[in-house]
Amino acid sequence: MKLSEISKPIDKNMTEFRKLYREMTSSKTLMMDTVMRYLGRSRGKQIRPMLVLLSAATAGSLTKRAYVGATMVELLHVASLVHDDVVDQSDERRGMKSVRAVYKNKVAVLVGDYMLARGLHVAVEFNEFDFLRVTSDTVRRMSEGELLQIQKSRMLNNDESTYFQIISDKTAALISACSEIGAIAAGVGEDARRSMKEYGELVGQAFQVRDDIFDYMSKNTLLGKPVGNDVEQKKLTLPLIFALNQASKQEKAPILKQLKKGKAQRKEIVQFVVDFGGIAYAERTAQDLVDRAKACLDLFPDSEYKQALEKFADFAIERNS
Ligand code: IPE
Ligand code: MG
Ligand code: MG
Repeated sequence: MKLSEISKPIDKNMTEFRKLYREMTSSKTLMMDTVMRYLGRSRGKQIRPMLVLLSAATAGSLTKRAYVGATMVELLHVASLVHDDVVDQSDERRGMKSVRAVYKNKVAVLVGDYMLARGLHVAVEFNEFDFLRVTSDTVRRMSEGELLQIQKSRMLNNDESTYFQIISDKTAALISACSEIGAIAAGVGEDARRSMKEYGELVGQAFQVRDDIFDYMSKNTLLGKPVGNDVEQKKLTLPLIFALNQASKQEKAPILKQLKKGKAQRKEIVQFVVDFGGIAYAERTAQDLVDRAKACLDLFPDSEYKQALEKFADFAIERNS
């Protein structure tokens, strides 16, 4: 499943979105503008704006309002990535050095704040108060999700239901905001809006479960070199949570000991997760989320846009980047 194939029906609209996005990310402050240009050099997949536009089109009309929504969500998304790399002390992003790696943490925090403010302000500028209601709540949830994740890693006691709360808040909230904003932009009724929102919520969760599987089973792992960044940071994600639940006390004791000490033998933990079926379970879970997401689209008439949303649901778990 290629993203370029999914976005084909809205290629022209994406170009229009990029124009507005560029306008909204310029700044008169030289240093801000420099970092914005740096970020512009690697634009990422832009799946969130794509979802706004596809949802609006599926719901019946892709108007100017949808571009405003698309610009908002991408600003909020990139702000969250810039901040995330500070929180995780990560020096790589989108195949380049992260903002914090090049310009240091101070600058990354301020640039993230700027983009966040800019993202919310776009709604005010265009009098889109419904968008603002949806996204300001989303931003709150993203921060709470990240904090809950930190809390759980410190206590090393994550369970499946808390895991789903974390991924719903930190990842799915923004993706469901995208499809909901698309529906609002198309001016549909309450039922259609709720279904679109739910579609995004489920796809978003699947997307994050896939991301967490990557941490155990990426290309590098296949080459015999486990990635295991989450394990390193004591993040207990679905594959490991499941494996720990399957294993007996004796079987998991050495694993828990390693995690506690912060001296994880990545290879050993990956093997443990595979042996106790953690990867297979997470894959089944992601597939189930995708099937449920697609069912949310039932009430919309068939169109090339709706088909693209269906393909996007598959992409969320089939992607390899
Ligand atoms: C990365 O999101 C953060 C997660 C929610 C896993 P994307 O994979 O959409 O990042 P970009 O925008 O394409 O770089
Ligand atoms: Mg993080
Ligand atoms: Mg990850």
